[in-house]
Amino acid sequence: MSTATARLCATSSVIVTCGTGGVGKTSCAAALGLVAARQGRRAVVLTIDPARRLADAIGLGGTVANEPVRVECDAPGELWVAMLDVQATFDGLVTSTARDPQQARRVLDNPFYRGLSQSLSGTRDYMAAERLHTLANDPRFDLVIVDTPPTRSALDFLESPERLARFLQHPVVRLLVAQGRGGLRIAGAAMQPVVRAIGKVVGSDALSGAVSFLQSFDGMEVQFRERALAVAALLRGDGTSFTVVVSPAADAVTEADWFVNELRRLGIDLRLVMENRVPPVFGEGVAAVFPGLVAESEAAEAVLAGFRNRTLGVHPDARVTRAAEAASDIHDMAGITRLADELSAG
Ligand SMILES: Nc1ncnc2c1ncn2[C@@H]1O[C@H](COP(=O)(O)OP(=O)(O)OP(=O)(O)O)[C@@H](O)[C@H]1O
Ligand SMILES: [Mg+2]
Repeated sequence: MSTATARLCATSSVIVTCGTGGVGKTSCAAALGLVAARQGRRAVVLTIDPARRLADAIGLGGTVANEPVRVECDAPGELWVAMLDVQATFDGLVTSTARDPQQARRVLDNPFYRGLSQSLSGTRDYMAAERLHTLANDPRFDLVIVDTPPTRSALDFLESPERLARFLQHPVVRLLVAQGRGGLRIAGAAMQPVVRAIGKVVGSDALSGAVSFLQSFDGMEVQFRERALAVAALLRGDGTSFTVVVSPAADAVTEADWFVNELRRLGIDLRLVMENRVPPVFGEGVAAVFPGLVAESEAAEAVLAGFRNRTLGVHPDARVTRAAEAASDIHDMAGITRLADELSAG
């Protein structure tokens, strides 16, 4: 079996699925994981979508959390699932980059730090990328499949490591960290504009917390920055494959066009398009009795053909696969298995 989907699952170390709400990103992410597991690979599907669809889709209910959970499947490899927990990921990053447990404690106990994961949307983006990096380097797994949230901002996590690296290089941040190192107090008149600038970003209530937070970094910022650059390199690396899931609805196609162009703008190649929820094609017998079904199927084909042409114009090497709209929702391994079969068929 060497279809485009099979090859992608066999050779990638990271697969990212993009697409708008309801097209079947989560289901397709799980199906790709199963394809890889059937090849003998150990795949983990990471959902950064706060909705718990992945857990529901494979019948795990509320048991999926930050730590990967193994899912029973009929394959020589392994299928695991995990859900991004921003706070747990951030805590793990602090603990692993701190010089010693005392420094980790100082940062973790800082009230500003505690509020950071809720207050800044950029934190969530970066932690998604950070979590991906950790799982990609986890010896338990050969492949990480990322199921992104159904919004355009889903791709923000791609740029977040560079943004964090730039932030840590910012003169104000470096000054504050250096001050913390020297044990100096922020009181001098020279510091006032700096403090005001930070206050504008984090709000005056959080200001003293932000300042002491950065001061407690003391060396960690270097580790953070190196880490962010490693995460950025992983996302841009050859082993990372980007896919778009699309269904034949007007809004889904509009959003998919946007993802296709955004990937180009970011200089990232799209490897695979998964056309999902495609209405089945009927033979002549059905056409005679239900002309409406045929018209629906033809309209879907026309919409998808247009999308395919535009996509191949922008990403000439992208491959296309598809799966039909099943008679019922996908809510268990049997449904994921059917989807995996279709996506990896010729
Ligand atoms: N090929 C298919 N046939 C029938 N139902 C499908 C198919 N693919 C997905 N579904 C159903 O469509 C719904 C949305 O699927 P899924 O949750 O995978 O999409 P999503 O893109 O991840 O959605 P969201 O953006 O809301 O997270 C689910 O109820 C799922 O069971
Ligand atoms: Mg989803």
